[in-house]
Amino acid sequence: MFGKIDVLISSEEIEKRVMKLAEEISNDYKEKAVVFVCILKGSIIFTAELCKKLSIEDVEIEFMTVSSYGNDTKSSGTISIDMDLCKEIGEKNIIILEDIIDTGRTLKYLVEHLKSKNPKTLKLCTLLDKPSRRLVDVEADYVGFTIPDEFVVGYGLDYAQKFRNLPYIGVLNQE
Ligand code: IMP
Ligand code: MG
Repeated sequence: MFGKIDVLISSEEIEKRVMKLAEEISNDYKEKAVVFVCILKGSIIFTAELCKKLSIEDVEIEFMTVSSYGNDTKSSGTISIDMDLCKEIGEKNIIILEDIIDTGRTLKYLVEHLKSKNPKTLKLCTLLDKPSRRLVDVEADYVGFTIPDEFVVGYGLDYAQKFRNLPYIGVLNQE
């Protein structure tokens, strides 16, 4: 079953960093209309917490469901869009909100998919980045934390759908 979970990033540290990201984005998009695209399910908490802290006014939040992992700690390598955006994004400033970039395959796929819908601008924001695991070339414009090659859970991230509710990011020690 599950071993114990060691705290990697406390909820206080996350709160502070998310505030900084919100300030940075608010500065970069002053007076602009932004559509945040939350990648479900992992980015649900990050999206909610970040969007609450924005000081820009013209904000929309949209959702997409993408899956790449089965009930395992390794990427299956196959990405599928289970729920696409329900609106036109041409002429909109899009910011993708992702929980974590691991191999990079999900974001690369998403970027190409969304680019084909001709947004005005497209940027990527991820709470966590594991650059040592990258298999394809993709970089986020906004990164919360760069973390080592550990399987993490909490603050939206799961293992077999569990642990998303933890208020911190923890390392899952599997037995
Ligand atoms: P990538 O396509 O390999 O970059 O995988 C990205 C997706 O895999 C993320 O959106 C997460 O849903 C999942 N993932 C990658 N690493 C972790 C992890 O350490 N914990 C939980 N989910 C992860
Ligand atoms: Mg995800």
